[in-house]
Amino acid sequence: MDIHTNIPLKNYTTMKLGGNARFIADILKPEDVPPLLDKASQQSLPVAILGGGSNTIVRDEGYDGIVLRIRIPGITTISEELNSVTIKIGAGELWDNVVAYAVDLRLSGIEAMSAIPGTAGAAPVQNVGAYGQEIADTLVSLEAYDTEARTFVTLMNEDCRFSYRNSIFRDDAKGRYVITSITLQLSKNLPSPPFYDALQRYLDEHNITAYTHQAIRDAVIAIRKDKLPDPTERPNTGSFFKNAIIESWQLPDIQAIDPDVPYYDMGDGRYKIPTGWLIEKVGLKGKLLHGMRVHEKNALVLINESAGSYADLAEAREEITTAVRAMFRIEISQEPLELPS
Ligand code: EPU
Repeated sequence: MDIHTNIPLKNYTTMKLGGNARFIADILKPEDVPPLLDKASQQSLPVAILGGGSNTIVRDEGYDGIVLRIRIPGITTISEELNSVTIKIGAGELWDNVVAYAVDLRLSGIEAMSAIPGTAGAAPVQNVGAYGQEIADTLVSLEAYDTEARTFVTLMNEDCRFSYRNSIFRDDAKGRYVITSITLQLSKNLPSPPFYDALQRYLDEHNITAYTHQAIRDAVIAIRKDKLPDPTERPNTGSFFKNAIIESWQLPDIQAIDPDVPYYDMGDGRYKIPTGWLIEKVGLKGKLLHGMRVHEKNALVLINESAGSYADLAEAREEITTAVRAMFRIEISQEPLELPS
């Protein structure tokens, strides 16, 4: 197992910012995890986990510890039921390869999450979701190394306490588990309506009426290509902010500012307001702030156009959150995780 020293983390994250990792090691199989953690604790070094680096922002001071880059491969069908198939995926597989695999087998449940960058093991951490699906809907369980109990464990779906873009892995149990595989149960049924509005609109506009797995995957890829910048061409981490969640009593105040505010009833006395809309309304869509471009097609995305450091990104973030707070009295929060946390 090779451990590399003083490695620029900007090379391993799609935002292409931030300092160096003191040590970095690739994890190719679950058994690689315990010895590396033992080494880290012998030397009192903190440990951080990196998947594809597409949802991680690195600060300028870098990481004074060991970064484990999870590269565990493998997608296998483990059982077939009457109406579903269960597959197990190594945490290092690229998420989109998992979606392609499922679509090839004509299995549904994750096709709308096509073309999301990153690895399978990172997907449960932020409960990845797009176009009406989220990983919480199909995840049966996952395997992880528990750094507290120092043993491998299986966590069931309910143990992960999934909610909108959240789970125990970025909340109560932050840093505790190293996810090594995930297990999904996918349906043998065709994808069926109602589809997410933007997806249905695309299907209608292109006269697509046969809702095959591949047709839905292709439609989502086309929509995303138009609205989300390719991180390999324009460094970004997808949505830079979470959508805002407000209490129902706050809605009239916001409607008084702009009666056209879009909102989604979450069914629990709360509403979700698209942060992209809020940022557009404060006039920042398309603007260049400290080298960070507020994406001209989707204000929720920040692109590192010419920012030299994390400090530039922090200033851009501050300008945006301040402007939204001043106009709407809504506190918006960052979606990608940060290192050090
Ligand atoms: N909107 C604007 N202006 C903008 C952007 C959005 O007015 O600049 C409004 C529009 O009214 C639009 C609404 O926001 O109808 C919602 O926009 P969209 O459907 O594009 O989705 P989103 O809320 O911007 C979320 C996810 C995306 C996911 C899409 C599609 C979060 C933080 N983001 O974005 O996920 O692909 O829905 O399901 O929940 C990601 O997490 O990296 C990501 C890209």
